[in-house]
Amino acid sequence: MRVVRPPVGTRLAAVVEVPRGPLRVDPGREPPIRLSLIVPTYNESRNLEELLRQLTAVLEPRLSGEYEIVVVDDDSPDGTWAVAMRLAERWSAVRVMRRRSEKGLSTAVIRGWQVARGEVLAVIDADLQHPPEVLARLWEAVKAGADLAVASRRAEGGGVSDWSALRRALSRGAQLLGLLVLPSVVGRVSDPMSGCFMIRRSAIAGVELSPLGYKILIEVLGRGRIRTICEVGYVFRERLAGESKVTARLYADYLRHLIRLRLATLPARFPRFAAVGLSGVGVDMALLFLFADPRALGWGLTQGKILAAEAAIINNFIWNDSWTFRDVARQLGGGAARLKRFARFNLICAMGLALSVLLLALQVDVLGVNRYFANAVAIALVTAWNFWMNEAFSWAPPVARRAAPVPLAPRRAAVP
Ligand code: GDD
Ligand code: MN
Repeated sequence: MRVVRPPVGTRLAAVVEVPRGPLRVDPGREPPIRLSLIVPTYNESRNLEELLRQLTAVLEPRLSGEYEIVVVDDDSPDGTWAVAMRLAERWSAVRVMRRRSEKGLSTAVIRGWQVARGEVLAVIDADLQHPPEVLARLWEAVKAGADLAVASRRAEGGGVSDWSALRRALSRGAQLLGLLVLPSVVGRVSDPMSGCFMIRRSAIAGVELSPLGYKILIEVLGRGRIRTICEVGYVFRERLAGESKVTARLYADYLRHLIRLRLATLPARFPRFAAVGLSGVGVDMALLFLFADPRALGWGLTQGKILAAEAAIINNFIWNDSWTFRDVARQLGGGAARLKRFARFNLICAMGLALSVLLLALQVDVLGVNRYFANAVAIALVTAWNFWMNEAFSWAPPVARRAAPVPLAPRRAAVP
């Protein structure tokens, strides 16, 4: 491993080596400290001193001796790393990593977490666009039991300073795109683009992360073991000095990242959903025989089919609610909430049915495709539709709490 030579006079302990290998955070070292805050930097030499002054002012009174700040710099041409090393002499909580082997915001954050000693891992931008005081409220939320506490521009008290309509639209568009591709992940927080949050180490320890570009929070939401989330509103300020590193390429990275995560999270549910769908076909067939076959009850075909299809939908709902989406269903609760899920599931599946009739007609009558091949295509597309829409609407995970969450004390069993 490369040895980074600190400038003369720097305490060696303040300079940390760059971990190699997979981007995986370990379960923690002994003895742990309470909080590790990562500050990713690229050409931020002019902001660093003021940032560290404000960060320590917030953290010292709360966590003196129990926190660290790790500046992870990608060998900035403006020498941010050297400035950081000099400042580490003044503030003992500060450690510095100078990366030359890799680049990029998301990996910088994870490399920082890998050398971190904290039970809680955090990240904040270096340009003071995230007001350091927000850390105090994030810390309160984590102490109260949240696995993840996110500084949000969309939560109460949040916002942006004077952004142009175009910039707002781009930001909103990126979020909507995320909701479309990955509803069950992106929909869990109101500001999935946030670059300032705290997460319990235990929620990501041992998980191999594979982010692309800027949106580390989405990666953590998609792969971590996160039960309780709390959001804290803040106003995204203008940069103190220097300039943003966002380029058009990062938008492409974002889309690729979303797709990668989508594919990675499919195996967890889709096979179950498909298996349940198959069981529904069995129910439908059997009941169609029972209701409509002249050898059985012999009712009308249409009437029999409607009843059989509805029974299949009920069958599928029960299995999906108690198996495929069991974890989400538990969080959403039973009773009226379950009825609401059922109503949505029913509606989406009915629309799926109409869609399949349409798709079949389109292929056979307009395109002249073989009807059995066309039916297979229709079934595949409608299964995808059903899965996607139900994941997004019927079993959408509850949005994060805006206030501090209730502590994770052993819960009393729900009153029946
Ligand atoms: N180590 C490292 N390597 N740091 C980087 C790199 C990189 O390649 N690129 C950017 N950074 C650092 C910057 O120095 C800054 O501290 C932080 O990451 C954010 O970069 P900006 O270029 O200032 O991004 P932004 O202001 O457009 O957006 C930020 O704020 C958004 C709102 O919370 C980002 O953090 C977004 O992820 C965030 O959503
Ligand atoms: Mn910025």
